Amino acid sequence: PKQQTVSTIKKLVSEGEKFTVLTAYDATFAHLVSSNGVEVILVGDSLGMVFQGKESTVPVTVDEMVYHTAAVMRGNQGALVMADLPFNSYGSVEQTLESSGKLMRAGAHMVKLEGGAWLCDSVTALSRAGIPTCLHLGLTPQSVNKFGGYKVQGRDDTAAQTMICDAKALVEAGADFILLECVPADLAKRVTEAVDAPVIGIGAGKDTDGQVLVIYDMLGLNPHKMAKFVKNYAAIDTTWQKAIQAYVQDVKEGHFPAPEHCFE
Ligand code: KIV
Ligand code: NA
Repeated sequence: PKQQTVSTIKKLVSEGEKFTVLTAYDATFAHLVSSNGVEVILVGDSLGMVFQGKESTVPVTVDEMVYHTAAVMRGNQGALVMADLPFNSYGSVEQTLESSGKLMRAGAHMVKLEGGAWLCDSVTALSRAGIPTCLHLGLTPQSVNKFGGYKVQGRDDTAAQTMICDAKALVEAGADFILLECVPADLAKRVTEAVDAPVIGIGAGKDTDGQVLVIYDMLGLNPHKMAKFVKNYAAIDTTWQKAIQAYVQDVKEGHFPAPEHCFE
C-alpha cells in the first residue's frame, strides 16, 4: 500500500471519504492492520491495559511507548503511525517537545495528546518543530482518576460548548487531527462540522471523518466486558484479515458505527 501521510488523510476527508484507524502495539499486528486497508495505526497507551494488563493507562511510560512504536514501525506497510504521549509526559512545553522527540525518533509520524485548549502552546511548539498532532477530547482515559470512571462526556450544554471551543482553539493552534472518545453522536457531529481538520471518533457516532477501535476489542480477543461502542468483527468474519477488511468497508460505507454503538 502507498504511504499515508497527514496530507493524504486530509485529502481523502476533503473528498468526502471516511478513514479507519486501529491500534497496534507490535510488528505483526502493524503488518496485519496496514496491509488490510487501514490508513492510520494508533500506538495507543491502551497498551497499558490490553498488553500489560494494568488497571488504567496511567502507569505507561515514554520509554514503553518508544519500545512499542519502534516495533510497530518494523511491521508497518504504509500506514500513518500516530503514537500516544503517555500520562504526565507533556506538562510543560519543554517536556512535551522532549517526550514527542523520543516518539518521533522511534519512527512515529505524529503524536497524540489528551486535553483541551490549555495545550494550545504545546501544539504550536510541536507544529513549529515539525511534529504533527492529534488532540484527544471527551473521555480522556489518562484523567480517569479525575473523572471517577469511564463515562460519556459533553452531555450538558456547557460541557458541549467547551468541547467545541477547545477543538476550534486547538486546530487554530496547529492541531492536525481531533479525536473524540465517548461523546454524544450529535455533539461529535457539531465538532466535526466546526473544525477544519479530520475528526476521528470512538463511541462518538457515525458523523466523524474517521473511526478508531482497539485491535483486541474488534477481534473479540479482549476477555473483559466491552464498551457499547465496540463491534466484534471476528464474530462475523473467520480470519483476522477478513475481519479487518469488513471493518474498513463498514466505515467507508457508513454501516459502522450503527445506532447500537452510539450514545444519544
Ligand atoms: O490508547 C488508545 O488506544 C486510544 C484510543 C482508544 C483512542 O487512545
Ligand atoms: Na490512548
